[in-house]
Amino acid sequence: MEMLLRNMFQTLGKSRSANKLAKKYGLRFGASRFVAGETIKQSIEAVRGLNREGRVVTLDHLGEFVSTEAEARESAQMCLLTLDAIAEAGVLSNLSLKMTSLGLDISKELCMSNMRQILDRARQYGNFVRIDMEDYAHCQISLDIYRELRQEYDNVGIVIQAYLYRTEQDIRDLGELKANLRLVKGAYKESPKVAFPEKSDVDENYKKIIRMHLLGGHYTAVASHDAKIIEYTKNLVREQGIPLDQFEFQMLYGICEELQQSLVREGYKVRVYVPYGVDWFGYFMRRLAERPANVWFVLKNIFK
Ligand code: FDA
Repeated sequence: MEMLLRNMFQTLGKSRSANKLAKKYGLRFGASRFVAGETIKQSIEAVRGLNREGRVVTLDHLGEFVSTEAEARESAQMCLLTLDAIAEAGVLSNLSLKMTSLGLDISKELCMSNMRQILDRARQYGNFVRIDMEDYAHCQISLDIYRELRQEYDNVGIVIQAYLYRTEQDIRDLGELKANLRLVKGAYKESPKVAFPEKSDVDENYKKIIRMHLLGGHYTAVASHDAKIIEYTKNLVREQGIPLDQFEFQMLYGICEELQQSLVREGYKVRVYVPYGVDWFGYFMRRLAERPANVWFVLKNIFK
């Protein structure tokens, strides 16, 4: 049953027509638990609230199904406006983005040109941009682009997924670039040809890469709600004397709120990933697929 729900949410999240329909009707079905709003103004309000509670943020303007150059430029423009709004409001937030929304599937050149514009603007504000990692089909090209941009910019980071077999080698290679990495388990449905099918193997690989990157002396964002992974990281940094400013914990908006707050109380840096925008449906479906138990939460909101 759980597998069935998982597949259903993953398929719905990729459906263009479902996304289009959802966009028309606005934030529904309890999606506002996971998405801060549809406008920049609403997202900045959410950042302010989190900052007041000692948490920093990474804002993500949601954009899915970009298939024309005009759409990609529009999406890049929203990233620029988000950076402007962060600076103007004086809130503590950087930016996360998906390169497919900047035209990665149209051409590498278009995506690079949008990325350079965004990184230039971020640099102007002394801000940082994180490239989210998408499905396996985009992994190599994303890393190639990151490598190229890293030669020009020091305010750019990327995400690495523990479920991929290739990841351990990627961590080794990225060490040379002193990469600022967000390490995650991985959110997409991947073939066992490229990714560990068993959760226990993903968790073990996750611990391995956290250890490798931290002991390599590089900045590491451990992005997980898994209490065991968080405990593992805390013990590791304590035992190895890794300074508090070499790592941070990251969690998603609306998930494990108490855990986020308790880490702040313990003195750790906690960054919340706050998505916003009219394209909320795909993101919402991925969160449900991660944890089909959330479906009860959705049903409650439909019949409320
Ligand atoms: P796991 O899935 O084992 O969950 C541990 C516990 O966390 C669960 O038992 C539950 O209590 C809670 N939990 C997890 N997900 C939940 C949900 N949706 N609703 C409610 N509770 C939930 N992936 C990717 O492929 N590319 C990326 O760029 C990113 N970026 C990213 C940024 C940030 C800040 C985070 C936190 C995560 C990502 N991810 C991601 C997603 C990541 O790959 C992964 O799918 C999720 O974080 C779920 O895995 P956990 O590590 O939380 O562990």
